[in-house]
Amino acid sequence: MSSNEKVASRYDKWSYFYDFVDNFPVISRPQRTWRMNSVEALDLGGDELVLDVGTGSGYMLPDIAKRVIDGQVIGSDISEGMLYRAERRAAMEGVDDRVRTVKDDIEGSKFPSDHFDKLITTFTLTTVPNPMKAIKECHRILKEGGKMVVLDTGKPDGLSKLFFYPMMLSAKLFGKTHMDRDIKGALEEHFDIVESKEYMCGMVYLLCCEK
Ligand SMILES: C[S@@+](CC[C@H](N)C(=O)[O-])C[C@H]1O[C@@H](n2cnc3c(N)ncnc32)[C@H](O)[C@@H]1O
Repeated sequence: MSSNEKVASRYDKWSYFYDFVDNFPVISRPQRTWRMNSVEALDLGGDELVLDVGTGSGYMLPDIAKRVIDGQVIGSDISEGMLYRAERRAAMEGVDDRVRTVKDDIEGSKFPSDHFDKLITTFTLTTVPNPMKAIKECHRILKEGGKMVVLDTGKPDGLSKLFFYPMMLSAKLFGKTHMDRDIKGALEEHFDIVESKEYMCGMVYLLCCEK
């Protein structure tokens, strides 16, 4: 089994309880704020074609769909279990006419070049086996002048490191998630980072990138 197939299989299993963990009271409120700020940062006009890379259970899809009345949002993921949840969420929120889900490995995407007006990816670049490949593909499928918004986790400053390191180690051990990856550095090789925000002393960051 390739490392990407292993990721897909792990998330297929997690798809049953992913939303339960995501909605855990202590983290759900700040997460909601970061996620809403990410959707705002997309700066949508209403007719764009938007891709949510590694959409998971499709948390971001309804909020984006409500802002692209004359456009479309596609949620892509390597895990069919996660995509099933995403489809259900879009239907339950009544936005399934503007939402489509596609099984796609972002490290070798099947989408054509210069295709999407906007891209968003939340908590995914720290989970893909090869983030450099994924970022290169994001750059390829985004239109010239297009915008990509990235929300993810990184190394914080100061005393927050005391909380960060135990979290990072358990995420790596149990979730194969690399919270300490230098995603910003990797993005800078392909995109112009035009805006950045930090939450929880840098443990979570939001980056707006332009092609
Ligand atoms: C931590 S979850 C984040 C899900 C969602 N974006 C969110 O914010 O809740 C990471 C997601 O990335 C997906 N993923 C991991 N590697 C991938 C790849 N190579 N291509 C596409 N999706 C991938 C996983 O299946 C999973 O659904």
